[in-house]
Amino acid sequence: MKGILLAAGKGTRLYPMTLPVCKPLLPVYDKPLIYYPLAALLQAGIRDIMIIIPPGEEALFTRLFGDGSRLGVHISYAVQPVPRGIADAFLIAEGFIGDDSVCLVLGDNIFHEQDLIGKLAKARANTTGATVFGYYVDDPRAFGVVEFDETGRAISIEEKPRFPKSNYIVPGLYFYDNRVVSVAKTLRPSARGELEITDVNNHYLQQGELNVVTLDRDFLWLDAGTADNLLSSSQAVKRVQDESGRYIACIEEIAYRSGFITAEQVHEQGLLQSKTLYGQYLMCI
Ligand code: DAU
Repeated sequence: MKGILLAAGKGTRLYPMTLPVCKPLLPVYDKPLIYYPLAALLQAGIRDIMIIIPPGEEALFTRLFGDGSRLGVHISYAVQPVPRGIADAFLIAEGFIGDDSVCLVLGDNIFHEQDLIGKLAKARANTTGATVFGYYVDDPRAFGVVEFDETGRAISIEEKPRFPKSNYIVPGLYFYDNRVVSVAKTLRPSARGELEITDVNNHYLQQGELNVVTLDRDFLWLDAGTADNLLSSSQAVKRVQDESGRYIACIEEIAYRSGFITAEQVHEQGLLQSKTLYGQYLMCI
């Protein structure tokens, strides 16, 4: 399975913060935002990853992750010249995906749960069709919203509905079989001029091939796309880390526990950051 991390939006909802630096590189508490979605791909056991970035930013991303070898994975970069929509990722990454299945994660989404690895492994094991998640929020209007029938089966997904049919939104973590590339090719831009991921999901739904896994309330999902959400995400990460004594999205630790790198490699990286608690944590792994 290939992994795509979509991190190319303009971040206009975060101006002026994103005038000099793009959104995925802004901090969420103690690490760059992009660590969190990258952690999700690593926790899904994915080792071949393409990060889709905005034009002119490649040097910054390369400085952060290089070719991925420090995490024991392969990371390549592709530029999205214009933010044409989330589903554009499959057109940009067509050659990278090749004959494989693919997991897409959005660059401003944060996921945390004790058994995240187990949930991702199940989603990954489902080799035909698509798997997405359903997460309860109080106000779903800014997201893709799932409608369920009385048996709990998903029957529609609407993007940013004015009158949502449920409180379950689809977070930005999606698993697809290889047909997703041809599905993306059939899409037309929506009223807001974007190739919508919700249209991709509805396509699978109409074929009876969309698996919607609802997440428990103790699952932590955050979308750090606005200034308020960025702040509350930082607060949530700090709270969970302080309470549990464990790091969220410690990509070096995840790579180590996944068997991608050795403890020595983690320690070396800790040494480089030893003035921070994060670095000291790495040195204790
Ligand atoms: O956060 C989950 C939601 O993400 C889903 O529930 C929605 O169905 C989905 O459409 C999406 O909604 P947003 O309005 O939050 O998407 P946004 O435009 O903020 O884009 C999400 C990320 O993807 C963001 O980090 C920027 C990046 N992106 C977005 C677009 C449209 C790109 O890199 N390129 C793009 O063309």
